Amino acid sequence: MNVRDDNVSEETKKLISSLQTDKDSKGKICKYQGCWYYYNTLQGVINFQKHFQPEDTDIVLASFPKSGTTWLKALSIALLERSKHDDPLTHPFLSDNPHGIVPFFEIDMYLKSSTPDLTKFSTSSPRLFSTHMPLHTVKEGLKGSPCKIVYLCRNAKDSLISRWYFRGKYQNKEVTRSILESMFESFCSGACFYGPIWDHALSYWRGSLENPNHVLFMRYEELKTEPCPQLKRLAEFLGCPFTKEEEDGGLVDKILDLCSLGNLSGLEVNKTGKNWMNMDYSNFFRKGEVGDWKNYLTPEMEKKLDMIIEDKLKGSGLRF
Ligand code: A3P
Repeated sequence: MNVRDDNVSEETKKLISSLQTDKDSKGKICKYQGCWYYYNTLQGVINFQKHFQPEDTDIVLASFPKSGTTWLKALSIALLERSKHDDPLTHPFLSDNPHGIVPFFEIDMYLKSSTPDLTKFSTSSPRLFSTHMPLHTVKEGLKGSPCKIVYLCRNAKDSLISRWYFRGKYQNKEVTRSILESMFESFCSGACFYGPIWDHALSYWRGSLENPNHVLFMRYEELKTEPCPQLKRLAEFLGCPFTKEEEDGGLVDKILDLCSLGNLSGLEVNKTGKNWMNMDYSNFFRKGEVGDWKNYLTPEMEKKLDMIIEDKLKGSGLRF
């Protein structure tokens, strides 16, 4: 076996040799607990599962990649920290991107170390973390903690198009039809980074039905069409509901404006800043539209993916 990723331990290499493996346009992937990871990310997942020490008040923001994670992070920070940042000139969004404030367990914290200094990663109280892992895998690291988990679900076809663009940006490559077609095939087979998308969403959907106080299931499309009630729903779940005075004072709209794509993408830190992997923060902002896939997928592609998802979600009560 040729595992090139230098952060992968001998133990994980041994584990990988027992897993189903495949390749996507970026590299080798393996299927662990029903989800596909690059080898180095799997090491981050395993480090997290073994070593993370949860606190009951922790909050975990979860999503499939390119589902609006940046937006969910921004909204959650703005809600939880609203009493601390009355002065818009000192708001943390001016000096950091939401991804710099809310770290991913398996990407930022545990990718390179099994014992990261957590105080460096989450300075908020309650601590805010994020992940792209499916629920059953996250739960192993949470070790029975009752901490709150918010999942943001997005239409699969929009996530795919967003992923195609994002990949082009950070690989500094032109987005071509042939790349989209190859990503589409992996996406449909489920063998893509963090796929299959249907199992990912189903894990949180079922978790939210089983324990709605523990897992909140939100949708990108609903945040777009009914932002005020959805923000209030998020605030209630996070234990920081809006007071009547706050609502009367227009705070719901202020937070929505602060976290809007237009506002965040226009901030200097997001125009010119980079994350620790040297990825431009500007890559996290594109159109933010519902149904943008219609501009790129053929009717045949639409039909194929719709049929697969419908079949996989049959009987679950989930549609997306
Ligand atoms: P598009 O590529 O469809 O425009 P993630 O944050 O999970 O990486 O997802 C990125 C997607 O969310 C991109 O979608 C991006 O434009 C959109 N997005 C980022 N910030 C947003 C915001 N504040 N409001 C709405 N959508 C946002």
